[in-house]
Amino acid sequence: MLRDPVKTDFEVLAALRNDSSVQRQLMIESKQYNTDQIRAWIRRRTRDLKGMFFVIESNGPCGFVQLTQIDLKTGSGDLGICLINSARGKGIAKIAMRQLEKRAMEKYRCKKFTLRVLRINHRAISFYKKLKYKIIEIKRRHHFDGSRWRDVIFMEKRLR
Ligand SMILES: CC(C)(COP(=O)(O)OP(=O)(O)OC[C@H]1O[C@@H](n2cnc3c(N)ncnc32)[C@H](O)[C@@H]1OP(=O)(O)O)[C@@H](O)C(=O)NCCC(=O)NCCS
Repeated sequence: MLRDPVKTDFEVLAALRNDSSVQRQLMIESKQYNTDQIRAWIRRRTRDLKGMFFVIESNGPCGFVQLTQIDLKTGSGDLGICLINSARGKGIAKIAMRQLEKRAMEKYRCKKFTLRVLRINHRAISFYKKLKYKIIEIKRRHHFDGSRWRDVIFMEKRLR
């Protein structure tokens, strides 16, 4: 289900990267990214020596999951996940997360995933809680989304 990106994934990844609600949820700069910028983003993620980046495949590409800032000393990695609308609510994200955990434990001996999520992203928060992520900290008015300062929840999970 998790695989390396291939050329034909570009359309789906580009659509996610340029979706303004996804940009808000992932706390990335809200703008239209051109083809070169999207290619550069995919290259950055796939070549990151302290990261992992996979396309989630379920009858075609339907999103991505990534780890960044993998710290070999502490065994921690910072998680990101995003699915296209039609793939949400089907259990696909949960399976993808389990597979990422497995791969991160095998390849990097990861012991812990951390993540940041907007306090208003109720769906993602319920999803992470369902997967046993715990809230570590809430930073008030921590992220500026272009129009408002938003509270950010920091969560983590010990892997086993
Ligand atoms: C976050 C994401 C990966 C979760 O995947 P998903 O397939 O939607 O997750 P699930 O449907 O398995 O779980 C979501 C849970 O939230 C619940 N939920 C849905 N909408 C909700 C809402 N508005 N408020 C609270 N809970 C909500 C669902 O009922 C479900 O719980 P349940 O399984 O107990 O019924 C996916 O929604 C996504 O890609 N979102 C956009 C990008 C994003 O926000 N990424 C995270 C950034 S930190």
